[in-house]
Amino acid sequence: MRPHVIVNAAMSADGKIALPSREGVRISNDEDLRRVHELRAGCDAILVGVGTILMDDPKLTVKKEFAKGPNPLRVVLDSDGSSPVNAAVFDGAAATLIATNTSCTKTFRNAEAVRCGEDQVDVPKLLGILSERGVKRLLVEGGSTVNWSFLRAGLADELVVFVSSFIIGGHSTPTLVSGEGIADIGHAIQLRLKRSMPLGEGVLLEYAVVR
Ligand SMILES: NC(=O)c1ccc[n+]([C@@H]2O[C@H](COP(=O)([O-])OP(=O)(O)OC[C@H]3O[C@@H](n4cnc5c(N)ncnc54)[C@H](OP(=O)(O)O)[C@@H]3O)[C@@H](O)[C@H]2O)c1
Repeated sequence: MRPHVIVNAAMSADGKIALPSREGVRISNDEDLRRVHELRAGCDAILVGVGTILMDDPKLTVKKEFAKGPNPLRVVLDSDGSSPVNAAVFDGAAATLIATNTSCTKTFRNAEAVRCGEDQVDVPKLLGILSERGVKRLLVEGGSTVNWSFLRAGLADELVVFVSSFIIGGHSTPTLVSGEGIADIGHAIQLRLKRSMPLGEGVLLEYAVVR
């Protein structure tokens, strides 16, 4: 059985998750930041794409001032192993797994490489590997391309979105989900709103993904 997968993101009121330059920007308010760290602490692994590593260089750890508990396993989808050697996920603060394709022969300091998929990382296969390693709850923290991959493939169980009370704008600013999108509305990915609540100046939306 694959892990339970939660996709979590923070977006502006116009659905953007970064600046038009694609540079990461803090969208969460203090309340949401605390919530994210509590959520991390309750998960066995946190997964991001290499695009997020390159733009945001996240640590993907649990900040002790916000939540208690061990750091989850950090997982990066990185087909060619192009994460920079000085990326924060290689700081040794938590176990890290770099998922590459089978042609990649790179090794990483302070991280284990797992080869799955011939072109991009084969996510169902990776989820099987994670499950064998005891990952029961996986938190997916973006970015847009990775969010699409999980949602399109029916591999996300929950979508949790913090919506801020500001607008970012921009034609090609990253949005919550990218990828190729759906061809017609009959193929829309259906969500069921489980809970909505104000969080400071923003709103938290918690959805179940309908299959
Ligand atoms: N506000 C938020 O909540 C939030 C959170 C995270 C990120 N962000 C923003 O999101 C943006 C980055 O998003 P992004 O779409 O450019 O990159 P991304 O989703 O972080 O990473 C996508 C990359 O992951 C690799 N990958 C490998 N296997 C994959 C698979 N099966 N499915 C999907 N991706 C796979 C691919 O690169 P290779 O082919 O090289 O492997 C792909 O281009 C940044 O601007 C960042 O600031 C915002």
